[in-house]
Amino acid sequence: MFNVINIVEIIEKGSDMRVILIGFVILTLFFACTKIKHNKKSPVAVLPPLSFEEADLRADSVLAKLSLNEKIEMIGGHNMFYIKGYPEHGIPQLYLSDATQGVNIRRHLPDQLEKSTAFPCPIGLTATWNINLAHQYAKAIGEECRAGGIAVLLGPGMNMYRISQGGRNFEYFGEGPFLASQMIGNYVEGLQSTGTIATLKHFFCNNTDHNRRTSNSIVDERTLHEIYLPAFKAGIDAGARAVMTSYNQVNGEWAGQSDYVINKLLRQDLGFKWLVMTDWWSVWDPVKVIKSGMDLDMPGEAFEWMPSLKSLGDIYVRNSAMRLLQENKIAEEDINRMVKSIIRTSVSMGLYDRPIKDEYFLSKYEEHEQVALKSAREAIVLLRNDNNILPLDKGAGKQILVTGEFLEEIYAGGGAARVEGYNHITMKKALQDEFGESVKFDESPSNEKIQKADIVLLSVGTRDSEGYDRSFNLPEEMENKIIKVASLNPNAIVIVNSGGGIKMTDWNEKVAAILYAWYPGQTGHRALAEIISGKVNPSGKLPITIEKRFEDSPGYPYIPEGDYLRSNWDDDLNMDLPVYDIHYDEGVFIGYRWYEAQKIDPLYPFGFGLSYTSFEYSDFKVSNATINKGDSISVSFAIRNSGAIAGAEIAQLYIRDVKSSVSRPLKELKGFGKVFLEPGESKIISIALTEKEFSFYDEKIHSWRVEPGEFQILIGSSSTDIRQQVKVTFL
Ligand code: BGC
Repeated sequence: MFNVINIVEIIEKGSDMRVILIGFVILTLFFACTKIKHNKKSPVAVLPPLSFEEADLRADSVLAKLSLNEKIEMIGGHNMFYIKGYPEHGIPQLYLSDATQGVNIRRHLPDQLEKSTAFPCPIGLTATWNINLAHQYAKAIGEECRAGGIAVLLGPGMNMYRISQGGRNFEYFGEGPFLASQMIGNYVEGLQSTGTIATLKHFFCNNTDHNRRTSNSIVDERTLHEIYLPAFKAGIDAGARAVMTSYNQVNGEWAGQSDYVINKLLRQDLGFKWLVMTDWWSVWDPVKVIKSGMDLDMPGEAFEWMPSLKSLGDIYVRNSAMRLLQENKIAEEDINRMVKSIIRTSVSMGLYDRPIKDEYFLSKYEEHEQVALKSAREAIVLLRNDNNILPLDKGAGKQILVTGEFLEEIYAGGGAARVEGYNHITMKKALQDEFGESVKFDESPSNEKIQKADIVLLSVGTRDSEGYDRSFNLPEEMENKIIKVASLNPNAIVIVNSGGGIKMTDWNEKVAAILYAWYPGQTGHRALAEIISGKVNPSGKLPITIEKRFEDSPGYPYIPEGDYLRSNWDDDLNMDLPVYDIHYDEGVFIGYRWYEAQKIDPLYPFGFGLSYTSFEYSDFKVSNATINKGDSISVSFAIRNSGAIAGAEIAQLYIRDVKSSVSRPLKELKGFGKVFLEPGESKIISIALTEKEFSFYDEKIHSWRVEPGEFQILIGSSSTDIRQQVKVTFL
């Protein structure tokens, strides 16, 4: 079955020092040939997780203390974000809160944190391709959860980027199952090293927020296994203790009450043994919920402000369980199974044995800010840099006109993932700090001002959010402003703030430079200003493909004919809307796999990003030209910084099956390494490939399999900039 062991070694040329990454489960790549960084120890006791068997034994004795009524009270949430506790039985009430990019402080709830760090959004984190950073980023969030008494973080969110319009893409890890898996494995490990439970969400195939409660994702078995399951598997293999199901239906049944989704895919195929919870108000039939392998119905009740759900009747397991028992539709064993899973998961992470809240961690905020800053420095992607207009020479006394949006706010995405942050460094402040008097801000500069400026920095973007999708096109006014500025000034530099791809086709070649900043978090604009001034050399690369037109993309069209793209939460809870099918007809061909197979040129390809320096690839070697079943081979190559300043390169390894009995992508990412190099410095990257990396999921045998024959191994600086390739034969 799916069991990636991918080994990346980065060896300093001419030296014996090496760093080894083994898989995404246990070890962490630490760049530049130092020791393996593995922060298992916390200054405050975090108990090592108990095994399933140990936790199971303990759960039996806790369960035995509870009456039937008490047990039923535990299988549905309380007060929106809690699991019921019974201090008299040694069971604390547990607080569950969002999410992947930092703690969402819910000020209306008791005992909340005063502040939490707003990190760059997860798609930005993914653009760093730095798995060590994913670990640090999540560890910092876990520490803030500990400071705020959050036992279960409702993240990482990790649905694949199938459609650029997806409102929640900013919360997720891009279009590549391999890249997402590497980042998520390390995220989960970093988060849980603090004793905070990670919740992998939203299981499953929730790749759009357009009428998310009434969409039905129709996906075939091979596609599930090759594209949509790997990231969840990576999180599970890294020890994640919780999974949240999604709002949508999968092949005809709501995910949170689907025996196929939970019992089969999640529990049987992926081997997940711990807590499964629903997304908030996403299940409708309590018998199905209870029988599906689900453990916890969240939030477990309706509130006054949601009459639309009240009218649906007894849909909550906590309210209906007693009646269903009396009607023999469920058995007490079912309730025990659910409660036991909640208890087992909690005790396995020590939640009944330590204070959930630990104010020691408040002392770590400065470190967290540094992690957020470092993540932003590596997340920002330089897409275009005509005539090396960037970096801007501060000493040259050039007048910089700054205009556009997002200049005075830290936008971090909307919905449950919203994070306020603190110590905000707005774009305006960061540019002022970096460039002083030479920057001037003007909301609507005259044509003359635009013409007169030496440089125009124009900030644009989208306000992505949970609850609805957004257009691929920028609002007309914004689009027109870019085109106008570019026509008046040849030195227009566009800064994009967005959680996913946007249409840049009509002005891409008219502007001098484009920086993709995502939502960079509370300190991220500092990083942006440092990149503009050259203090920091950009090193991010796209974890997505950016298409020329939305119509080119694999998910188009996915909105029912005659329907329209909402731009707010209206209708989010409307269960009277007809269920509409989303056919994942592109199968395994999402992202770059699609554009390559369809021979459609995107505007910017997956894995692409520019630097202020240049890198040369050489000395490509493969340990064996043939591979036997069960063996692995090692691929190595050297990268040299051939420019004049220090920088980082993300080298990517793709595999192509030359001939196959099923239709396979022209190439698939199966390894990568990020190296930091001084000018003139070289390092060797070594990547081990096992049988798994050459395999596909064979629906006939319901398993992964490799077909003997020729494969090409391609090493590149992006998915379309392949520098070296070689053929190997699988025997
Ligand atoms: C979101 C989840 C979130 C939950 C609780 C839902 O609306 O889809 O991702 O964890 O709310 O805040």
